[in-house]
Amino acid sequence: MKRRMVYPIVKFGDDVLTAKAETVTTFDDAELQKLVEDMFESMYAANGVGLAANQIGISRRIAVIDTSVGKDPKAKIVIINPEIIARDGKQYEEEGCLSIPGFRETVERPAKAIVRAFDAKGKEFTMEGEGLLARAFCHETDHLNGMFFINHLSTLKRDLIKRKIRKMMRSGEW
Ligand code: NI
Repeated sequence: MKRRMVYPIVKFGDDVLTAKAETVTTFDDAELQKLVEDMFESMYAANGVGLAANQIGISRRIAVIDTSVGKDPKAKIVIINPEIIARDGKQYEEEGCLSIPGFRETVERPAKAIVRAFDAKGKEFTMEGEGLLARAFCHETDHLNGMFFINHLSTLKRDLIKRKIRKMMRSGEW
């Protein structure tokens, strides 16, 4: 059994989070399998339901999702080079992000979303998600495009959160 690694989560303010992550072109190698498993470990350690590779400082288009938070092994989803290819309806729920700890806001997302992506073996697939899963597909794909949930808020709300974060950065609390 290979040793698992729990990566620290990169927080808002780091440039790796606002860059468009790089497309994955090589699949099914040991390095990618280990990275994906380490991403699940890092996500579970942080009690998240989704994690994008740039949130651990790796600018590659890879995200992991588990809306069961580790309770159901079948709920583990790997999306590589993901694209949201269809959206339907709307949902309004509170959303947070491991890279923006302490802030939660209501965000508009599609009620249903279909993602097209590759798995860790390089097999292309499409998957429909509803509710929290649709939200996770959108949230993680946003990350790989350099976006945060706060990009979906009003300028006023977003600026307020950014100001609070900058204040915490100055006092060394971020
Ligand atoms: Ni996030």
